[in-house]
Amino acid sequence: MTLALVDLIPLCQARTDSLFTHYLQKSALSAPKLAEAMSYSVLSSGKRIRPLLVYATGLTLNTAIDDLDAPAAAVELIHTYSLLHDDLPAMDNANFRRGKPSCHKAHGEAMAILAGDALQPLAFEIIAIHPTTLTSDQRLAMIAQLSNACGLEGMAGGQALDIATTNYSSNPDDLIKLYRLKTGALLSASVKLGMLAANHVEKETVRVLDIYANNLGLAFQIQDDLLDLESNIDTLGKPQGLDTINNKKTYPFLFSVTTAKQKIQELTDNALKILKTLRRPAPILEQLAEYLLQRKF
Ligand code: IPE
Ligand code: IPE
Ligand code: MG
Ligand code: MG
Ligand code: MG
Repeated sequence: MTLALVDLIPLCQARTDSLFTHYLQKSALSAPKLAEAMSYSVLSSGKRIRPLLVYATGLTLNTAIDDLDAPAAAVELIHTYSLLHDDLPAMDNANFRRGKPSCHKAHGEAMAILAGDALQPLAFEIIAIHPTTLTSDQRLAMIAQLSNACGLEGMAGGQALDIATTNYSSNPDDLIKLYRLKTGALLSASVKLGMLAANHVEKETVRVLDIYANNLGLAFQIQDDLLDLESNIDTLGKPQGLDTINNKKTYPFLFSVTTAKQKIQELTDNALKILKTLRRPAPILEQLAEYLLQRKF
């Protein structure tokens, strides 16, 4: 299927929304308040960058779009859970997310914690049971990939380092490691999930797309830090200036805003350059890298 990113964005939103609605409605009877808190957070105005990466990668490798829905929805569920917990008073204490009160502000702290707890396994359940032509081996590999990316060696590990280094400037290598874990791991996993849905991906393609994803993942967090410094709550849909209030020693704080901007450009250039070596055209992945560079929220 040849799609441009502008067409993929609404398609991705509609397809992931449809899975969220289906699986949340199915389970809503058991604990309606919990289902409400989950829906509140997941059926929202998030950019869906991680599902976009799954779709863009899979479609580039000629995968049927129906086989990409489960991994795309799953990674967004994990990401949304990470945001719910990230916003809690014990972590960043953020009152606003995706243009509305944070989950714990709207539904209470206990329900926000539980919503995160329940979004996480739902991600794995969807990969395991969503009807597609994916084989059991593919599903298992996806579950292994995603669980690794969100656990100790991925997002949760990175979040723990983030908490541990709050108030203290870490050295540049440690900061990059932290970013690769807390943010890069899930973005890289998204590309890997797209590859796992495809059949017979050459080693060289895996190598190239891994490099592409690693560069974008790091650029993504540095840009998030810059937006926290330079944007505003209306544009961001989340508080601005919170990193300063929380004493986070971010990349622009450590190196300057100018250096941070140069780094984002350099990482994006790296991603685009490696993409050119792929033995097939990858216009959506290219457009996605450019879109992320231009993003304002
Ligand atoms: C925000 O992620 C948290 C980071 C990892 C930097 P996004 O900027 O993708 O947030 P949403 O999903 O669009 O709300
Ligand atoms: C969080 O980084 C990354 C996660 C793993 C949730 P931030 O704390 O900077 O994300 P925002 O700015 O709150 O979205
Ligand atoms: Mg945080
Ligand atoms: Mg935060
Ligand atoms: Mg941030």
